[in-house]
Amino acid sequence: MTFEIENVSKTFESKDSGEEVIALKDINLTIETGEFVSFVGPSGCGKTTLLRIIEGFENPTEGTVKDDGEIVTGPSNKRGFIFQNYSLYPWLNILDNVIFGLNINGKSEKESKQRAMEYLETFGLKDFAERYPNELSGGMKQRVAIIRSIINDSDSILMDESFSALDIQTRRKLQKIILKICKENNKTIIFVTHDIEEAVFLSDKIVILSARPGLIKEIVEVKLEHPRDRNNSEFTELVSKITDEIGESEDE
Ligand SMILES: Nc1ncnc2c1ncn2[C@@H]1O[C@H](COP(=O)(O)OP(=O)(O)OP(=O)(O)O)[C@@H](O)[C@H]1O
Ligand SMILES: [Mg+2]
Repeated sequence: MTFEIENVSKTFESKDSGEEVIALKDINLTIETGEFVSFVGPSGCGKTTLLRIIEGFENPTEGTVKDDGEIVTGPSNKRGFIFQNYSLYPWLNILDNVIFGLNINGKSEKESKQRAMEYLETFGLKDFAERYPNELSGGMKQRVAIIRSIINDSDSILMDESFSALDIQTRRKLQKIILKICKENNKTIIFVTHDIEEAVFLSDKIVILSARPGLIKEIVEVKLEHPRDRNNSEFTELVSKITDEIGESEDE
């Protein structure tokens, strides 16, 4: 499965003034199966908009997105989307939250529960299966959201600043988990973040967007071997280089 983003532009019209905001302009990008790709750039440059278009939550004004050769026209089980605010169903316990999609996919409940429990155990949440989302910490909720995407066997997982509200320890734990899922299960991950160090730690490719109109400024391939050492000079130099580039586009 590969994403082909071809000549994608998105213009929003303000409801009050009727003024147009060009959120994205002429985005061309290919994402290979099993690739970990991050979108970075100044606030308002169109990262969320691009991710929502790839998922199918939003239609581009121009251009197309193809997922495995098929034009995206709406959300699909092939793609998991993890929001910043966890998006769990508050009225369902954790186990039921995890298997919600599986039931839809027509698997037996027993089979689904068994599989869900295995994942909850792997993610350190076995004892929380019967609890409700409001009884879990932010990091736990985010883990549940990740499990839900994996268990649905989506080919790709799209994440919009999914780790940004978490403390550094939890964040680093989840970074390792999501990287493992990407590399061992050959899932494609598209990851929006403000944290350049996080992007360099995780990504095969970092797409730098510039603000107004949202254009691709540069695509940086990160060739460092995993597990990456945050103190390695090549690592820190790359973080500084990308940070400077985003700063420049903010000044423009
Ligand atoms: N539904 C909408 N209606 C009108 N304008 C919108 C809408 N969604 C986004 N925009 C505009 O499109 C531009 C890009 O927004 P977007 O949310 O994609 O940026 P972002 O890069 O994700 O920013 P941040 O880093 O702050 O999350 C902004 O100027 C924003 O105001
Ligand atoms: Mg955003």
